[in-house]
Parts: sequence; C-alpha cells; structure tokens
Amino acid sequence: MGNNTFTLRNDQTGESWSFPVVSGTQGPPAIDIRSLFAKTGHLTLDPGFTSTASCRSAITFIDGERGVLRYRGYDIRELAERAGFLEVAFALLYGDLPDLGQKREFEKNIIYHTLVHEQIHTFFRGFRRDAHPMAVMCGVVGALSAFYHDSLDIWDPRQREISAHRLIAKIPTLAAMSLKYMRGQPFIYPRNDLGYAENFLHMCFATPAEPYRPSAALVRAMDKILILHADHEQNASTSTVRLAGSSHANPFACIASGIASLWGPAHGGANQAVLEMLEQIGHKDNIPRFLEKAKAKDDPFRLMGFGHRVYKNYDPRAAVLKSSCDAVLDELGVDDPMLELARELERIALEDDYFISRQLFPNVDFYSGIILRAMGFPVEMFTVLFAVARTVGWISQWKEMIEEPDHRIGRPRQVYTGSGYRSVLPLARR
Ligand code: SDX
Repeated sequence: MGNNTFTLRNDQTGESWSFPVVSGTQGPPAIDIRSLFAKTGHLTLDPGFTSTASCRSAITFIDGERGVLRYRGYDIRELAERAGFLEVAFALLYGDLPDLGQKREFEKNIIYHTLVHEQIHTFFRGFRRDAHPMAVMCGVVGALSAFYHDSLDIWDPRQREISAHRLIAKIPTLAAMSLKYMRGQPFIYPRNDLGYAENFLHMCFATPAEPYRPSAALVRAMDKILILHADHEQNASTSTVRLAGSSHANPFACIASGIASLWGPAHGGANQAVLEMLEQIGHKDNIPRFLEKAKAKDDPFRLMGFGHRVYKNYDPRAAVLKSSCDAVLDELGVDDPMLELARELERIALEDDYFISRQLFPNVDFYSGIILRAMGFPVEMFTVLFAVARTVGWISQWKEMIEEPDHRIGRPRQVYTGSGYRSVLPLARR
C-alpha cells in the first residue's frame, strides 16, 4: 500500500497543493482530500458520489469492470455453492469463515435470540392489513431499541456483539410476522430445532392447521438467496446505515434507516419493480415498445433490474440467480411464463446499442423476484427478504465503522445556490 501524491493547481492564481494518495489492497487508489477545504477554501462536488470513497473497509470487494464480488476475499459464487448463510454472516462480522466449533457456537448464539418480545406483537396491530410490509419493518425494527436497553452502549464490544446477534436473529422473525400479518394468519414462533433459512420459511409458510416442512431444495435456495444479498460495499442503504451510525445512534435505529433506504425502487425495491414491469410487458411481442420507453429521455420508465453504479459487466449475483431459476422452479413444479419473458428481454436488451454503450447488464434484482414468487412470496415481500439478508452486511459495516478509532460524524457540505441576504419585511409589506 505505497503512498504518493496528487497535485491540484488553481489556474487562475497559479497556486498548487499536494494531497496524499491512499491505496488499499485491491481496487482504485484514492486521493485523500480531507485537508482540501482548509488548504484551498474550495469544496469538491460529487452528486451521487460517483467518484467518492466514503471510508476504508475490509468487508466486501467489487470489481465492476470484471463483474467480481468477494466477501472478506471469498468469491460470491464459491460462497453460494460451498457455505451456509450463517457461515457467511460470521465471515462478514468477524473476518474469516468459521471452523466447525465457531460455526456451531455462532448458530447457537443466533438461534438463542430469534424470539421477539411479546409486546412487539402489538406493534403490528396498529398497521392496516394492506400496509406494505416494508413500512411495517421500518417501524418495528426501529422500535426494537425500546426493548433492549441492555445492549445500547455502542462503546462496549460485548453489547455491540449482542446487538448484532439480536438483529441477525430477529429480523427473519419480524419479516415473517409482517407476511403473516398481511395475510391475516397467526404469527408462527421461531423453532430452535431448525436452521436459519428453514426456520424463516417455517415462520413464513407454516400454519397451526397443519404441519409444514419445506423441501431441502427450497431451504437451500432460500439460504443461497440470503448469501447473494448479504453485503455489497458502500451501496445507498449501507451508506445510510453508516451515516446514521456516525452520529452514534443505536444499531437498531441505524438498521431501520437502512431498511428505509433499501425500499426505494432504484435500490432494493427494484426486485418488486422487476416483476411488476414484466407483468406490464406481458408478452415478448411488447418488448421492443418497452425498450424504446426505457431509452427515451423524456420517459421516466427504466428497465428495472438493469444497470448498476459499479458493475459495468454482468452482476455475478444475477448470473447465479439466473442459473438457479430453472432448478428451483422445476423443484417447485412451477412454470412461470415471466421467466421466459425475462430471458427474452435480457437477450434483446444486451444486443441493443443503447444498453451496450452504457454497459447496462442485469443486476441482482432482475431474476430474484421470479424465484421468490415461485417460492410462494408475494411481490410486496421481495424487498423485505432483501432487508433480511442485508441486515448482516449493514451491521457488519456499522461495527467496522464504530471500531474505526478515527471515525467522525458524516457531515457533507454543499454548493449554495439560493438567495443572498435580504431583510425580513413586516407581513403587511411582503
Ligand atoms: C441494487 O449500489 C449497489 O450496490 C446496489 C445493489 C446492492 O446490492 O446494494 O447492487 C442493489 O440497488 C441494484 C440496482 C437495482 N435498481 C434497478 O434495477 C433500477 C434500474 N436501474 C437504474 O435506475 C440505474 O441503473 C441505477 C440506479 C441502478 C444506477 O444508476 P446510476 O449509476 O446513477 O446510472 P445513471 O442513472 O447515471 O445511468 C447512466 C446512463 C443514463 O443514460 P444517459 O444519461 O447516459 O443517456 O444509463 C441509463 C441512464 O439513463 N440507464 C438506464 C438504466 N440504468 C441506467 N436506462 C434504462 N434503464 C435502466 N435500468
């Protein structure tokens, strides 16, 4: 990680300043501009942060040009094939995949915290049955901090760890409760004899009326989907969690802020938007008309599930999900015409110069919804499932930031474009 410098020159005054270059272990180097305003009296402007690194992180690495995604150095494809979700969660939180003893200890710690306080059940009763489950999750997860006063001291490593375990353990329980509430079915309690993914499916789809046992293939598909969505470096919702955490808000409130940010259709809400788009397209004969809409500058329609700020190649998660579609739908005996439509849409788009020239490829959201619907989830739950998985990434990134000795409150500046000074006239004269 050698350091060199970048020199900035003001062509009007001839002044110049040097700034150190910071390199990580992989990926683009960065110019450290922390002293830029003090030295030059100038700010930088970077709407959407296309050229801005907000932090150093050792958790996730993305090479957008090559379509590479690694958690703690482990390739996403290998993790999806060879590890379980809680093993991946352990690696994101602590740095390495667990050995057998660590895996069993971590699973025990998570399972121990899967129940939620009975009082939380009453929070759901305040929502209309047709409330979007992401609205419910924003409210209920934020409220968790009201129940766990014994783990809100973010400076105590043990309390940080208990909060992380509680969030990883309880988010599936709350997500399943939001589905049950939406459907008017009774809540199903977690079971300590089931693994993480199977327990989640059981809480979602079991009823008191009859036994429910998901197939091993369904459990494996759920586990794989959670792995693929677990973390993704400094995306919008993770940056929201870090910004909230930089004020030293408690971790439950920070995760609730991440859920709110993820909800947007430009981000995690895209998986629901993809299914709604495919249903709107309806038939492959309509694809050209919708592609023209996606390309028209004056039309707000976008090809949902396509494009990415970082990937300028195929999103490796989309590749895994695309290849899983057939197996999962066959296993479930589901024949979904939307899958063929999605494949045809992808084929035509990837041959179209507009998408080629802008390096727009399918992202993680393009195929995920087809699998989730085949598994029995309503479209409104797709982003909730994204939040269940991403909670591990959010809390790992939050922990990394809090444990960074020189972390500071995030407080961007602006380029002011408003009015100069003007006095306040009495109402009668305004
Ligand atoms: C996720 O950041 C992450 O890591 C996010 C995520 C994660 O795991 O956390 O990967 C999860 O959010 C995936 C993205 C899900 N969103 C969608 O699928 C919504 C559709 N995609 C677009 O809204 C868009 O591609 C974004 C939001 C994903 C990225 O936006 P950028 O980086 O700001 O890109 P841009 O809007 O500046 O687009 C560049 C050009 C523009 O055209 P020009 O102005 O150059 O002519 O590409 C066009 C855009 O109009 N474009 C699209 C398009 N995406 C970009 N045109 C049509 N359809 C699209 N989907």
